[in-house]
Amino acid sequence: MTRHLLLLFLVCASFLVHDVSGRGRKDKDKNKNSHSRNTENLCEIQDPNRTIDCFCDKVEYQNATDSTCWIFNGLQQDDAVWDYFMSQSNMERLKFNIRPDGNLRFVPTRALSHLHRLLELKIQYANIPELVPYAFANLSSLREISVIRNQIVDLKPHAFSKLSNLSQITLDENRIAELHRDVFVGLPQLKKLYIGRNNLSVLHDRAFSHLHRLEELELNGNQLPVVTRETFTGLKSLKILNLQENRIRMLGDYTFTEVPNLVELNVDHNILQYISDRAFQGLSRLNRLTLAENRLTALGSDVLRGVPNIHFLDLRDNSLRTLTFDTVNPIMENLKNVTSYFFVEGKTVLTATTKLVFSSLWSCVEQYRTGS
Ligand SMILES: *[C@@H]1O[C@H](CO)[C@@H](O)[C@H](O)[C@H]1NC(C)=O
Ligand SMILES: *[C@@H]1O[C@H](CO)[C@@H](O)[C@H](O)[C@H]1NC(C)=O
Ligand SMILES: *[C@@H]1O[C@H](CO)[C@@H](O)[C@H](O)[C@H]1NC(C)=O
Ligand SMILES: *[C@@H]1O[C@H](CO)[C@@H](O)[C@H](O)[C@H]1NC(C)=O
Ligand SMILES: *[C@@H]1O[C@H](CO)[C@@H](O)[C@H](O)[C@H]1NC(C)=O
Ligand SMILES: *[C@@H]1O[C@H](CO)[C@@H](O)[C@H](O)[C@H]1NC(C)=O
Repeated sequence: MTRHLLLLFLVCASFLVHDVSGRGRKDKDKNKNSHSRNTENLCEIQDPNRTIDCFCDKVEYQNATDSTCWIFNGLQQDDAVWDYFMSQSNMERLKFNIRPDGNLRFVPTRALSHLHRLLELKIQYANIPELVPYAFANLSSLREISVIRNQIVDLKPHAFSKLSNLSQITLDENRIAELHRDVFVGLPQLKKLYIGRNNLSVLHDRAFSHLHRLEELELNGNQLPVVTRETFTGLKSLKILNLQENRIRMLGDYTFTEVPNLVELNVDHNILQYISDRAFQGLSRLNRLTLAENRLTALGSDVLRGVPNIHFLDLRDNSLRTLTFDTVNPIMENLKNVTSYFFVEGKTVLTATTKLVFSSLWSCVEQYRTGS
């Protein structure tokens, strides 16, 4: 009993001390709660030796919703500075920039843990070798995370986890080399995932298997040598898949069977030499397929049979020698539509058969146009 009383007294005393010091420091903060007043205001840091400088849309305690923070050198993960974010816990949009002479080697998780209304987080030009588990503080308010150009190499399991409102992740222009399972978990609202222009050469099977709501996946500008059915397991809502500028040599049987709602597939600028007749099997909604700038010399006669809805097909800059009527036949009706496109040119050597295909196509298109 006496112990409880003593504890109560201590708590009261500590509030009193904070209250006095807060009021002494700044008069205009009189009406704010004591909790925020006992830390420095993030938006008006007075310390001449500060290691962070934040520019806010409103500077009064708890009034800022947008802020850009410049990071100087020497900030550690457990620096007390990160608790200054407590003074602006209504922040909705936060951006971290690194000064040319500055450095930041981690995601400031401690700062984020004070921002329960944060919607958008951007970090750029930091040097963050790895994203650790739960780096984004399990913030269920977050909608968008953009961490472009931060030299990120490694994403640890659960790096993006327990972010129940997150809808977009942008990881472009880092150096991510390998994508493990269980990096992207607990993201029930994730719609867009961009990992373009990295260094990805290994995608572990089922790396995206928790992303049932994902609609757009960009993996362009990496070093991927192969993709298989298991790569895309779980992506049942995916509509757009960009695999441009990788090192994919062949597309085997049923590669895209796990992504039946795909509308747009881009495999331009790889080193494709072979596409199995069953590679596109199951893509009944696919509308746009681009295979330009590869090394295709032939296409099987059944290769378009799994994709009857194609209205845009780009085969430019390959070395196609035999393109038969049978190959194009499954999508012939679509190509009559004036809004359809079919590109074959560049290095293509037109044999008699190919020419035949084209002349019949062009006449179809003409007929449709004059008829409408
Ligand atoms: C700032 O840093 C300088 C050099 O380290 C030190 O002499 C000075 O006391 C510091 N000023 C404050 C207000 O901490
Ligand atoms: C800051 O917030 C308080 C309480 O919401 C409000 O009364 C005040 O006008 C705001 N100040 C500014 C500069 O927006
Ligand atoms: C996020 O959740 C994980 C798993 O429950 C937990 O270990 C971690 O401490 C949490 N992080 C924060 C900042 O709340
Ligand atoms: C998540 O988003 C919904 C819908 O926009 C919103 O009502 C809810 O408050 C958000 N949750 C959090 C924790 O911000
Ligand atoms: C890309 O990854 C390879 C190993 O897969 C590594 O040798 C190379 O240094 C990486 N390049 C960059 C720019 O990180
Ligand atoms: C032509 O294609 C457009 C868009 O895909 C579609 O809305 C339209 O119905 C098609 N027209 C015909 C005649 O197939």
